[in-house]
Amino acid sequence: MPVAAVKKDKSDEMDACLEKAADESKPFGETAGFLGIIGKSTAMQHVFELMDKVADSESTVLIQGETGTGKGLVAKALHRVSRRADKPFIGINCGAIPETLLESELFGHVKGAFTGATTNKAGKFERANGGTIFLDEIGDMSPDLQVKLLKVLEEGEFEPVGGTRTIQVDIRIIAATHRNLEEEVQKGRFREDLFYRLYVIPVTLPALRSRRSDIPLLISSFLEGANRKNVRQVLGVSEDAIQILMNHTWPGNVRELKNIIERLVVLKQKGEIDSSDLPDNLKSSACSHPLHTIELSEDGICLNNAVSEFEKALILQTLEKTQWVKNQAAKLLKLNRTTLVEKIKRHRLQPQVS
Ligand SMILES: Nc1ncnc2c1ncn2[C@@H]1O[C@H](COP(=O)(O)OP(=O)(O)OP(=O)(O)O)[C@@H](O)[C@H]1O
Ligand SMILES: [Mg+2]
Repeated sequence: MPVAAVKKDKSDEMDACLEKAADESKPFGETAGFLGIIGKSTAMQHVFELMDKVADSESTVLIQGETGTGKGLVAKALHRVSRRADKPFIGINCGAIPETLLESELFGHVKGAFTGATTNKAGKFERANGGTIFLDEIGDMSPDLQVKLLKVLEEGEFEPVGGTRTIQVDIRIIAATHRNLEEEVQKGRFREDLFYRLYVIPVTLPALRSRRSDIPLLISSFLEGANRKNVRQVLGVSEDAIQILMNHTWPGNVRELKNIIERLVVLKQKGEIDSSDLPDNLKSSACSHPLHTIELSEDGICLNNAVSEFEKALILQTLEKTQWVKNQAAKLLKLNRTTLVEKIKRHRLQPQVS
C-alpha cells in the first residue's frame, strides 16, 4: 500500500479520517464509537447521544473542548448525519487568518474592493449555501467581525466586501473553540449576544485525561492506521507501556496520542512497542507521578495500578536522590534492603542514562 500523501492542513486530515470512518460507521450506542470518533467511556457515550439527538436538527451547534479533543471531527460528523450531508461542508479557521482577510474570506469581495481584489470572489458563506459552515476557533474572532457575524446569523444575509448587493444564504452553523467562551464573555472579549446566538446546542468534548478508559481503544485504532499508512508491522503495545500511556495527562489530548503512536510505529517497524520505546517525557512523567496529579476520572480508576505507579514513582525518586545507593534509599523509605530490591525488580527500575 502506498504511503499516504502529505496532508495539506487539518481539514484534509479530518476528511481522510472521516472517509475511512464512513465504512466503519456504527449505530450510536455500540462500543467503538461513531463515524470514526472513537470512544466508549461514559463521557463519549453522552457526546454520541447528543449528536444523535441533534442529527436531524438545523440548530446551531457550539463545540467546546481543549485542543486535540476532536472538535473538527465532530463538526464534520454532524454535517454527515444531517439532512445537508450531500451539500457542502465548508470550514474556516477564524483564528488563523488576519482580520482584514477573514472578512473577505467569509463574505467574499467584489472586484476593486481593495488592492489585489482583481475579480469578484465568493466567500465561504456563499459557497456553503445549502450546507454547513464550520466556524472553527470562533473565540479568536475580532470584535468587529463578531458584530458582522451576528448580523448574518440573525438576518441570514450579508454583503460582500466593497459590494452593495445583498446575498441571502441558507446555512447551518457549527462553531468550535478551545477557549471557554463563557469566560471570554465575562472578560469582555467575546460578545454576549453572539455567544447566546451560537450557544444553542453546546457539545463539550471531554479531555482525554478524564476518559482514560478510551486510551487502549484509541491506541489500537491509531496503531492499525499508522501500520497501514507507513507500511509497518507493529503487532501491539505491551501492558507496561499501555499503563504509562494511560497515566499521562495528555495536554494535547487525542492528537498528541495519535502522533505519539504514529512515531512509535514508524520507529519500531515491527514487533511489540514496550515501555522502553516510549519518549522520555512520558517515562519520566509516569515515574514522577505525584499524588496530586492523579485525577479520578469519571470512568473510575484502578486503585491497584494507581498505588503501584505511586510506589514506583516514590522509589525511583528516592533512588535518584541517593544515586542508587540502595542502603540509603531503603533507610529513607523505611524499608529493609531486600524488600526494596524486590520492588526495584518488580517495577523493572533502572538508573536513567542521560
Ligand atoms: N475520539 C476520537 N477518535 C479518533 N480520532 C480522534 C478522536 N478525537 C480526535 N481524533 C483525532 O485527533 C486529531 C485531532 O482532532 P481534531 O482536529 O478534530 O481536534 P480539535 O479539537 O479540532 O483540535 P484543535 O482545537 O487543535 O483544532 C485528528 O487527527 C482526529 O482525527
Ligand atoms: Mg480543530
